[in-house]
Amino acid sequence: MAKRSALVSSYSRVQSIGILGAGLMGLEIAALNVRNFFPVRIYDSDPAMLATVHSRLAEELADVEDDEVRAEMLSLAEPGTLEELGECDLLIEAIVEKMEVKAELYQTMKPFLRPNAIFTSNTSTIPIEKLSDVFPYPKNFAGLHFLHPVWNRELVEVIPSSKTSELVLQRLSDYAISLEKTPLCVSDCPGFVVNRLLQPYLNEGLNLLLEGVPMEKVEEGALEFGMTWGPLRIMDEIGLDTVMNAGKVLYMAYPERTALSPILVSMMKKKLLGRKRGEGFYLWGENWRENVHTHDFQPSGFNPAVQKLVEKWKAEKPLDISTAEIGNRLAAAMADEAFRILEDDVVSDQGQVDMAAVIGLAFPESKRGPIAWKLYEAER
Ligand code: NAI
Repeated sequence: MAKRSALVSSYSRVQSIGILGAGLMGLEIAALNVRNFFPVRIYDSDPAMLATVHSRLAEELADVEDDEVRAEMLSLAEPGTLEELGECDLLIEAIVEKMEVKAELYQTMKPFLRPNAIFTSNTSTIPIEKLSDVFPYPKNFAGLHFLHPVWNRELVEVIPSSKTSELVLQRLSDYAISLEKTPLCVSDCPGFVVNRLLQPYLNEGLNLLLEGVPMEKVEEGALEFGMTWGPLRIMDEIGLDTVMNAGKVLYMAYPERTALSPILVSMMKKKLLGRKRGEGFYLWGENWRENVHTHDFQPSGFNPAVQKLVEKWKAEKPLDISTAEIGNRLAAAMADEAFRILEDDVVSDQGQVDMAAVIGLAFPESKRGPIAWKLYEAER
């Protein structure tokens, strides 16, 4: 154990971590850190979320077989005040995906910040330049985008603003590597790489529902193509509120090719927020509450309430489509955006976009990524 701790500390200059937001992502990021023996202070404005940090972390760490090691990891995470978090070398903000709420928190943090501490946002979609403009020390500010589920997604996007220092970027990449993740430095834009790729995949799933394709068939098509999760499962896992907030940012940025589905709007109104509330496109069974952070937890079935809700907008004549065609449509939506990402110079080459899809979104490795797949398919 001492060996692993020493290895971490010799590699990463960052030693203590403060996490703002103890929701789905804050908790998962905390678990990743304590697994790698980084001490973590965690803060949330909702006392109920803070009160359950330890029990939820224990769920996240249930796969650690050695009781003593698990206890040591758990002891490394402590709830803290904003002032205590200000003492940390690296802060990771993972609060709700709303610009105005994030901006307000940065201002509240101001008196507690050390000028040389690194401050990052785990935002999925909000441009880092915009966030950095409202942060008191922009040189030390960057995006650090972990993906859900954190334990199972190797990629971390590192996103500089125009003011982020090179040193900060280097420290963040080293830190990601010390967490056994692969950092990918990408240019700033709404959605960066991963969420720009994900959004069309999710939208296409919702479009298929509107065209009259049943939920189970949409999901089957995605799995047959080789994706680990269909679009509906992904939305349930992410949380429909986060999908909606991220969708709004992307809609404002790319209105010509993004739309807010009425299905999402209506599910939000009915509080069908997905796994973290026990009900979304899927039903998550009677024990959902104790299993929000359990790895590989499976839903109990599709939610008939959503199928009923979709009837309102569904095409009169349901689309006659095979599961193979569904898989291709979902992947093609992602591939079209992958080409735009390349055109926009968000990353330097095709391999990086394909790698982001494979290790960030579990796009089938055998197909080598959306661009490689599309080029290969087009040649056939
Ligand atoms: P969540 O809704 O599960 O958790 C957000 C937490 O922030 C809640 O516990 C809430 O009480 C807390 N909070 C809200 N306002 C606060 C404030 N002013 N100060 C302190 N705490 C506050 O959301 P989730 O899913 O964890 O998302 C957090 C961030 O991570 C968002 O920016 C999201 O876009 C991003 N993200 C989400 C992913 C996902 O799959 N859910 C994946 C990658 C990034």
